[in-house]
Amino acid sequence: MNKQRVLFLCTHNSARSQMAEGLLRSLAGDRFDVASAGTEATRVHPLAIRAMADVGIDLSRHTSKSVETLLDQPWDHVITVCDSANERCPIFPKPTHRLHWSFPDPSQARGTTGDRLNVFRRVRDEIAARLEAWLETMAAATRGGGSTVEVVRLAEKFGKFSDAWSPRIVGEVNAMHVKVVKLRGEFVWHHHDREDELFFVVHGRLRMQLRDGDREVGPGELIIVPHGVEHCPRALSDEVHVLLLEPAGTLNTGNVQNERTVAELERI
Ligand code: NI
Repeated sequence: MNKQRVLFLCTHNSARSQMAEGLLRSLAGDRFDVASAGTEATRVHPLAIRAMADVGIDLSRHTSKSVETLLDQPWDHVITVCDSANERCPIFPKPTHRLHWSFPDPSQARGTTGDRLNVFRRVRDEIAARLEAWLETMAAATRGGGSTVEVVRLAEKFGKFSDAWSPRIVGEVNAMHVKVVKLRGEFVWHHHDREDELFFVVHGRLRMQLRDGDREVGPGELIIVPHGVEHCPRALSDEVHVLLLEPAGTLNTGNVQNERTVAELERI
């Protein structure tokens, strides 16, 4: 699939455009190449890094860039994210598909660090909601453009990979991803702050370890783990094949980041 290229622009490439970049990559990095820039390069705001870390997205290695350095690249969409009421938004000088979304500048917030962090979180959530709506519009446009309705054959999908604990995306239902994953042995204890997870066992037996006791799930059975509930799946058979249904962007290891964390999921 040809990835579309998206550039987020604001004045300082410090908070809003950085958060938008991280969010879009997390929501749909398999379909979009994403970057951000500003009319001037400054630094990534430490509170933007913290607000994004809260949702499992790491901005600590992002840098603030000037749009000058990206002018010569082809962009399918250039999206400005500044407060149209109070700021002069940068203008991208090349012909491309331009969008403007107005968000307040969180770095203007005053008060304690906690108050200011809450403003960053609120703007982060506004940007995420806007991106999800935009992705939905884009997906609807693609479907309307003649994309076909396909039968997904799970046995065929499970035949395409062998590694355990690394989910693959096989479909989408609104903003949810349908994934397949193979389980061997035991995973890690974790929870998800926001996402509920559905596990449907296709093959083998799964023990869902929960703090209030374990549940066993066999072929043709499913279990839903609500957000906030600590869980640790364990394969009771040599290999368990599971279909997962969870919001796009759900990290497999939830609040825990380790060598089993898979941030960019493959679509098969
Ligand atoms: Ni989980």
